[in-house]
Amino acid sequence: MNVSDERTIPLWAQIDVAPDAVPLPHDDHSDVVVVGSGIAGLSVAYELALAGKKVTVIDRGQIGGGMTARTTAHLTSVCDDYFSELIGLRGRELARLFHESQSAAINRIEEIQQTEAIACDFRRVDGFLFPSTSAQEAELERELEAALQLGVAVERTAGLPFAGFSAAPALRYARQATFHPLKYLRGLTDGVRARGGGVYRDTIVEKVEEKDGGVRVATASGFVATGKWAVVATNSPINDRVALHTKQSPYRTYAMSFEIGRGLVPDGLYWDTEDPYHYVRLQPGDGETDFLIVGGEDHKTGAANDGNERFAALTSWIRGLVPDLGIETHRWSGQVMETIDYAGFIGRNPGNERVFVVTGDSGEGMTHGVVGALLIRDLILNGNSRWRELYEPSRKTSKAIGDYLVENATAIKNFAEYIAPGEIDSLDKLRPGEGAIVRVGLSKIAAFRDEDGTLYKRSASCTHIGCHLHWNSLERCWDCPCHGSQFAADGTALNGPAVSPLANVQ
Ligand SMILES: Cc1cc2nc3c(=O)[nH]c(=O)nc-3n(C[C@H](O)[C@H](O)[C@H](O)COP(=O)(O)OP(=O)(O)OC[C@H]3O[C@@H](n4cnc5c(N)ncnc54)[C@H](O)[C@@H]3O)c2cc1C
Ligand code: FES
Repeated sequence: MNVSDERTIPLWAQIDVAPDAVPLPHDDHSDVVVVGSGIAGLSVAYELALAGKKVTVIDRGQIGGGMTARTTAHLTSVCDDYFSELIGLRGRELARLFHESQSAAINRIEEIQQTEAIACDFRRVDGFLFPSTSAQEAELERELEAALQLGVAVERTAGLPFAGFSAAPALRYARQATFHPLKYLRGLTDGVRARGGGVYRDTIVEKVEEKDGGVRVATASGFVATGKWAVVATNSPINDRVALHTKQSPYRTYAMSFEIGRGLVPDGLYWDTEDPYHYVRLQPGDGETDFLIVGGEDHKTGAANDGNERFAALTSWIRGLVPDLGIETHRWSGQVMETIDYAGFIGRNPGNERVFVVTGDSGEGMTHGVVGALLIRDLILNGNSRWRELYEPSRKTSKAIGDYLVENATAIKNFAEYIAPGEIDSLDKLRPGEGAIVRVGLSKIAAFRDEDGTLYKRSASCTHIGCHLHWNSLERCWDCPCHGSQFAADGTALNGPAVSPLANVQ
């Protein structure tokens, strides 16, 4: 394995979304340049290609290799931070539109996989919210009342297919869904290409700007893609230094898959009221055995470096619920962007007319990505969308000001780390396979020693706006706690908003 990608491997990894994709081979001109080939980028590209626009999709890595390859793909129209909270922050009408738009996203995925004949294991299932302890049962009642106010198809039920929960109360949400995320992206990619679109990998976009009445997208290889519009769908936006990043925060979340006998747990989406909550779903296998996928144990990015303990906690929790669970097959982690008011930032990038952005997945990025595609399609083709105000990137939600201040305090606290001592006092103490921050004079160095003994010395300063990095020993990468950038042990930028690699230190 290359030191620039030693991350954990998700259950979906056997699928290569577009094995024949190549780097952008020349300057390019199209109607719409889409940066990022996750669920958001490919969905928006598909919608606009379907509408007759010429699209170009550019990704810095492999197609669909970002957070979409690390998802657990619950497709839900339910606000996982609770409708009762969303109503309190945004009011009943915007909360209703949240449910409407997220439901529309699931409907759209269902429609596309049918019309494009994408074999992606899509199925409609019920979703169940259940209390992790009897003390939390009151939360269900409050949530039921809020959801009913919005016209959500939800009912009180009792009994879950989990040990100790046979009589537990739960809320049952009808018409949720799930699928294999990468099989779906492969189908979307084929759909884009079949309509004349170009899909390019291993091409780092460095700059997105409005120019001469259109857009200009500059890449690290020197080639330029121009168009009438650009859509930045890089999960954490690479074209924004501050405006959006002060309103959302990166969280790391953990997932595992286990073999499970078919029918042992009925197909469905299950999540509990714990904070952070656990989430469970099924995935069909090829033979007699299916997979159960469990996730949770989230924490703010960079705030903990104990991935294996979190997997142990997840294992113990799920084996307590499903004692007949089979062997573990995969364990992985990834990042979600939590916004201060539970909805994504989708629409015109603040200050731009022709550059659009999709970010702030709020842990529900599979549906948010598809909402993004529908919303941006409507803004480009019709000039408006009924969901524009709800997801407006430049919005300021006055009732979320407390969260806004807390999120920004993270960045301020982070800069103070530059004056703290290093984690080890000498590079000689770094063992093979370890990374640590070392102080050398006035500088902080992000140091990693690989199994062969090769030492990588990089600046500990994130190339976005300079926050102090933290070592992630599970993913063997450097995490930026401020806005979610990640860098491989050799400094390669893996996740936005950073574009450039970490500076080399001699
Ligand atoms: C463990 C886990 C479980 C989750 N579970 C769920 C769930 O059950 N339901 C749900 O709805 N959501 C879930 N999410 C969230 C969801 O998976 C993500 O929000 C979603 O996949 C993000 O899609 P995206 O298209 O915005 O970003 P990505 O899939 O990350 O795509 C962004 C792309 O942009 C590219 N890029 C970045 N910078 C550049 C650049 N400079 N130049 C060119 N390309 C660039 C990247 O290489 C990447 O391919 C989960 C996430 C994780 C990690
Ligand atoms: S991601 Fe913004 S400073 Fe690192």
